[in-house]
Amino acid sequence: MSLSLPTEMQAWVVREERHGEPIDAMKLETVVVPEPGVGEVILRVKAAGINYNHIWACRGKPVPVSGLHPNEPLHIGGSDASGVVIAIGDGVKYWKVGDEVITHPNQTCGQCAACNGFEPLSCLHQKAWGFETSWGSFAQYARVQAQQLLPKPKNLSWEEAACYGLKLFTAYRMLFVSCDIKPDDRVLVWGGSGGLGSYAIQLCRAVNAIPICVVSSAEKAAYCRSLGAELCIDRTEFPYLSEPNPSPFPNDGMRKFRRKIRELTGGYEPDIVFEHVGAATFPTSVFVARRLGKIVICGATSGYALTFDARYLWMHQKQIVGSHGCNSHDATRANHLIERGVIKPTLTRTFSFQDAAIGHQQLVDDVGAQGSYAIVVD
Ligand SMILES: NC(=O)c1ccc[n+]([C@@H]2O[C@H](COP(=O)([O-])OP(=O)(O)OC[C@H]3O[C@@H](n4cnc5c(N)ncnc54)[C@H](OP(=O)(O)O)[C@@H]3O)[C@@H](O)[C@H]2O)c1
Repeated sequence: MSLSLPTEMQAWVVREERHGEPIDAMKLETVVVPEPGVGEVILRVKAAGINYNHIWACRGKPVPVSGLHPNEPLHIGGSDASGVVIAIGDGVKYWKVGDEVITHPNQTCGQCAACNGFEPLSCLHQKAWGFETSWGSFAQYARVQAQQLLPKPKNLSWEEAACYGLKLFTAYRMLFVSCDIKPDDRVLVWGGSGGLGSYAIQLCRAVNAIPICVVSSAEKAAYCRSLGAELCIDRTEFPYLSEPNPSPFPNDGMRKFRRKIRELTGGYEPDIVFEHVGAATFPTSVFVARRLGKIVICGATSGYALTFDARYLWMHQKQIVGSHGCNSHDATRANHLIERGVIKPTLTRTFSFQDAAIGHQQLVDDVGAQGSYAIVVD
């Protein structure tokens, strides 16, 4: 059922011929408003969250947008939205026109064995909405699967509600599902002040675990402390975290970094290393994790061809765990923490719809943002 959908809308579109930095790759275009398919709804988007995945989409790396979703004509990114349900497709049971919602980004087929008894993230048709699909939230209307919807927390503004989904839900899965975090765990959080990191800190504090935040300035350390972190390390004091030189691997820089962690924690090494930086930090992550500790990774901002000294992995029985996004259950549990005020949205910057490309460029130019950014769409 479609109610009063217009035929056209404004949307920020990425096309292959202008792949590059967001300021050049994103253009505001007039495009058709999509119809909801079976099990789908159309949202009137009120606000959209800015995520690093759209930087990859703009650059066309590692995959051009035509390769992300070959069967869709254009790429409208945006993997976080808050908005109002405005049209409902056949088979939608739990939502109605007028509902105020947010989204999680995991799309699945909903029909296979993985979706019905195992783990929807292992569905062969699993996709990150607004990245591996089009019709994301950087538009006046967005097309989503009904299973992606969550109630908008009533106490939040539209921008606050749009800013956290992908980042919080991913961090929740990394720590709670992929690592089974426990009270008193020491968790090394790379990019503590960034999108993922700012939620990882709060999730650690929620279970009395101890985040050790890595940052690149005193200002970012202060921001981490405002979120409940006590232990911070300025990585600019440790310039050789990825390089085999000046001394053989693990180099003096890595050893110095591990000494700093031990000094801060009273002699402990991290039970969990929260990784998303990739090439620049991964060798150190594997080196500093405690014996039988876990290195959980969901991204690689600085490069995805990773190196590490495998002796420190097998002899100390460490585990490297890949983690990607969230399923609907993870998102629901994490959203309850927001509804209860245990986790706060880390919205630090808001951009107008007209400035969506500037907002994305800012995320790149800040070289690691503080908190989360959102776009006011309506
Ligand atoms: N697979 C998934 O489901 C998933 C979900 C969300 C995000 N991701 C990925 O995870 C990555 C981070 O996302 P985000 O939203 O947290 O991005 P963000 O807000 O830009 O934060 C990234 C943080 O990484 C740190 N950093 C950047 N370069 C670094 C380097 N060379 N060495 C050490 N630290 C560095 C920065 O902190 P300092 O400069 O202060 O150290 C920054 O705060 C992105 O690549 C994103 O695509 C994946």
